[in-house]
Amino acid sequence: MADDILSILDKRTGRTYELPIQDGTIRAMDLRQIKTDPEDFGIMSYDPAFLNTASCTSRITFIDGDKGILRYRGYPIEELAENCTFLEVAWLLLKGELPTQPELDNWIQRVKYHTMLHETTKKFLEGFRYDAHPMGMLVSTVAALSTVYPEARNVLDPEIREIEIIRLVAKMPTIAAYAYRHSLGYPYVYPDNDLGYAENFMNMLWKMVEPKYVANPVLARALDILFILHADHEQNCSTNTMRCVGSAQTDPYLATAAAAAALAGPLHGGANEAVLKMLDEIGSKDNIPAYIESVKAGKRKLMGFGHRVYKNYDPRARIIKWTADRVFEVTGANPKLEIALELEKIALNDEYFVKRKLYPNVDFYSGIIYQAMGFKPAMFTVLFAIPRVVGWLAQWQEMLEDAEQKIARPRQKYLGYGERHVVPLEKRLAHAVS
Ligand code: SDX
Repeated sequence: MADDILSILDKRTGRTYELPIQDGTIRAMDLRQIKTDPEDFGIMSYDPAFLNTASCTSRITFIDGDKGILRYRGYPIEELAENCTFLEVAWLLLKGELPTQPELDNWIQRVKYHTMLHETTKKFLEGFRYDAHPMGMLVSTVAALSTVYPEARNVLDPEIREIEIIRLVAKMPTIAAYAYRHSLGYPYVYPDNDLGYAENFMNMLWKMVEPKYVANPVLARALDILFILHADHEQNCSTNTMRCVGSAQTDPYLATAAAAAALAGPLHGGANEAVLKMLDEIGSKDNIPAYIESVKAGKRKLMGFGHRVYKNYDPRARIIKWTADRVFEVTGANPKLEIALELEKIALNDEYFVKRKLYPNVDFYSGIIYQAMGFKPAMFTVLFAIPRVVGWLAQWQEMLEDAEQKIARPRQKYLGYGERHVVPLEKRLAHAVS
């Protein structure tokens, strides 16, 4: 609209500037015209941690944090979780539309064809200690795949991008399962392409001496739903990393490894493992009030609570709670669920959390399900990374195809020394250094 203009009066010069507003944003570069004299660099926006900065345009995922809305390509997450499989949703995120049956059949076949790992990868994994954290193994092994597929560097070739995307979607469960088997000292289990995506992952994790692994269908569907819920979440920390590293035209394996490294942080995807540690530390419902007080005193965070965007209940947490009931019907209830439910009830009625709009996020309940399914807490973030690779790749591809994008290189607000000169070593005085 013509009158979408932001009028800025610079009182330093008395000059007024008119900046166009487009889709609720102004271009930061339009601020640079606001100068005090021709030599002036111009005004920059300052936004540590990007609290209010759009780094890109995207058509993949929409979140309304106040209303607790999450949609992939316009479809509500609740409908996708109820009606689709993970590979259907992966196609949706990567291609923009839900697949037809022929498209889905072909997609599934192409993914299945690439589930194997190059045999050298097993030697690479053997180099890790038995107690190596699976996220460290995952990040390193994904990066190592860039040496197996050097043609992946041709990131501007759509056909090469397509095959590398399929390889990554197909191989993440295999790498994850191999890392898990390595930690137990068990032999690796090769993919069984008769099985679906979640079933095959369970096969590679848990098959022992039986001739054919048979997954519990309730647990397999629960895993598939959890994969759908974790597939993308617009410009979160790890996706921002994927876009930033990818903007240098780094190959998708190295960019994915960087994104997985970001996800490993306890404030991000590592929170699901941290939630279980927190519930273990609390130990019983009786200890919850004291724990809550320590959080309110700023001594620790309530892991699995809060979100940069959601100032309402994370819609994924609601679906995960529904899924937990289905899983516990098979596995038996996880006693930690009672502590989690009580913790949520108390927190949601406490002014400290209410005022800060802190609600359970995707990580609050997911770990409880994973543990009930037999996963160790160290595997929880790996279970986040497997489906999130689809979101990282969809966003990476969108970035490469966006004519507005170029290598990411933020500015800074420099507050350091002005020019000064080297003092000879023998004449230097000690400075208090931090
Ligand atoms: C994920 O971005 C995404 O989309 C991420 C994700 C995805 O799908 O990719 O959704 C996945 O990472 C979910 C978040 C998982 N992390 C956790 O559960 C860790 C615990 N949560 C917090 O660390 C925190 O809530 C963040 C990191 C999630 C968000 O932090 P912000 O947006 O920087 O918010 P903030 O730290 O500025 O908090 C605002 C206030 C502060 O209090 P005051 O300084 O105003 O007094 O709320 C407080 C914070 O201290 N606060 C918490 C809290 N989270 C925020 N206090 C106690 N416990 C918490 N969990």
